[in-house]
Amino acid sequence: MSAAALLAHPAPQATFMEDALQGLKQSPPSLPSKYFYDEVGSRLFDQICDLDEYYLTRTETAIMQDHAGAMAACIGPATRLIEYGSGSSVKTRTLLDHLAAPLGYVPVDISAEHLLQTSEQLSQEYPELHIQPIATDFTQPFSVPALDGPPERRCIYFPGSTIGNFTPQAGRELLDNMAYCAGDQAGLLIGIDLQKDPTVLEAAYNDAAGVTAAFNKNLLHRIKHELAGDVSVDQFEHSAFYNDRHGRIEMHLVSRCPQTISLQGHSFPFNAGDTIRTEYSHKYTLDGFTATAKQCGWHCQQVWTDVNDYFAVMYFEH
Ligand code: TRP
Repeated sequence: MSAAALLAHPAPQATFMEDALQGLKQSPPSLPSKYFYDEVGSRLFDQICDLDEYYLTRTETAIMQDHAGAMAACIGPATRLIEYGSGSSVKTRTLLDHLAAPLGYVPVDISAEHLLQTSEQLSQEYPELHIQPIATDFTQPFSVPALDGPPERRCIYFPGSTIGNFTPQAGRELLDNMAYCAGDQAGLLIGIDLQKDPTVLEAAYNDAAGVTAAFNKNLLHRIKHELAGDVSVDQFEHSAFYNDRHGRIEMHLVSRCPQTISLQGHSFPFNAGDTIRTEYSHKYTLDGFTATAKQCGWHCQQVWTDVNDYFAVMYFEH
């Protein structure tokens, strides 16, 4: 697979600079989490997935391994699998091993370098599989070019509880976009982190080794190095806590002292303790997510969970 094989979608999107300025102007300030995922951020994210405290990946992977046969049966034969936010496509391999005569695999990711490497690796492991990577920001609508031949059945794969990183409203918009992208008779296999003891949740986003902190601060490093922003990265501290009312983990960067971030002629003052919100991770109940998806025309067909009910992989049809 060569770089030429990579489909980039240059949709009219805001730039990192525009989004950063726009986010910092808000009160309270925030930064969009999609900018976590440059090459460094994508690698740090892979490390998060291996952390002891971070139960999500391990639990979801085990659910996939235990039930991949049943999932593949739901998805059916001759289906094209489209993965949103494919990263290193680790969990996908379990699914690919069980799919009957898949029409192809379309990994979609914002990090082009990471996507290309993963696609090259996968095409060696699955020489028969038609792989069409798309480098784009999947939070914006995009289309997947049809293959030659009869209309194809498509299934969206959206693991990792990434839907939880969207506000409920933005999540519904994404579910609508997915329905449009996937067309008639579509499937959706999605990973959902479930509500549980907040101690377990908070530990997952405050790992002892500080990898999540480094991941969070990578946003400030990018502002400093790519946007020539004047920011003292070390004067911000990682913070993650469970917001019970909204059922979500919130990640923030907390200013350690009075200071100013300067970006493209704009100044953003911070007092000690002021925060920039960088990520939400909403935790759902099975009923709650089923109802949300239903509003977007996705009907729940089957659910698989682990023994602790920490995580769910759910299959929907449109
Ligand atoms: N979707 C996963 C989660 O919410 C992964 C993730 C997204 C994440 N952003 C993150 C993990 C920030 C840690 C920190 O947990």
